[in-house]
Amino acid sequence: MIDMSSNLTDVVSLDVNNLSAADTALEIKNLDLFYGDKQALFDVSMKIPKKQVTAFIGPSGCGKSTLLRCINRMNDLVDICHIKGDINLHDKNIYDRDVDVATLRRNVGMVFQRPNPFPKSIYENVVYGLRLQGINDKRRLDEAAESSLRGAAIWDEVKDRLHENAFGLSGGQQQRLVIARAIAIEPEILLLDEPTSALDPISTLVIEELITELKKKFTVVIVTHNMQQAARVSDHTAFMYMGKLVEYSDTNTLFTTPAKKQTEDYITGKYG
Ligand SMILES: Nc1ncnc2c1ncn2[C@@H]1O[C@H](COP(=O)(O)OP(=O)(O)OP(=O)(O)O)[C@@H](O)[C@H]1O
Ligand SMILES: [Mg+2]
Repeated sequence: MIDMSSNLTDVVSLDVNNLSAADTALEIKNLDLFYGDKQALFDVSMKIPKKQVTAFIGPSGCGKSTLLRCINRMNDLVDICHIKGDINLHDKNIYDRDVDVATLRRNVGMVFQRPNPFPKSIYENVVYGLRLQGINDKRRLDEAAESSLRGAAIWDEVKDRLHENAFGLSGGQQQRLVIARAIAIEPEILLLDEPTSALDPISTLVIEELITELKKKFTVVIVTHNMQQAARVSDHTAFMYMGKLVEYSDTNTLFTTPAKKQTEDYITGKYG
């Protein structure tokens, strides 16, 4: 069993399977996803709670990243991919024809497994999204850069080298810089796909602590291979297996008294 004694999160009172509209950031309804003829997600329905950390766990290939990428329509970039079902954000299906995908992605930011700073200065990386929005006022950009870098717990390390190339940072610093870039445009939702799997244990810990801070302002959804990480950082956990959502509940319950045999087998290491 996973040791829950180190869980950094607060006691969770929300029941994700019975979430009120006020507590819901996003609702996934009867989502099926196909890559060509091959179905990768089967009738997934879940509500993602506001300003909480929700983790997707499950064995490799079970559909965690696929489900995460549906939330900001990254799968649109895959030609053979098509979906059925709804993902409602503010009572509007993000897959409706009239939805502007660029606006959606401003509202739903994403951080990937490998840090991907742009070949620019640290400063320009952070303000990139703001410049894209046409904001060029120096004072405003300076303020946004500082608050985002502080928000991503990296300000003290970079404040004296803001105009140096971002590639000069360590992997863990680059990942926090990418998080700063994502939060600079103030999204509502942050998607993190195995954000620490390319990092050393110390950098991983720093990012995990950061995630706990981020939920004060953002709704966070994290995919992780690492069950200890899910146990440490998330309030709610969804266990997926072969494209299906098997069990979804508060993290303590899922790891200590799972309702389904499949979940129990996974968290006790019987497969995966
Ligand atoms: N672009 C794609 N084209 C075709 N099939 C894909 C594509 N991306 C993913 N798949 C398939 O969809 C299924 C789910 O993949 P996905 O990447 O979502 O799994 P995952 O749970 O994130 O796995 P991992 O833990 O290894 O990252 C797998 O069978 C995978 O091969
Ligand atoms: Mg994945």
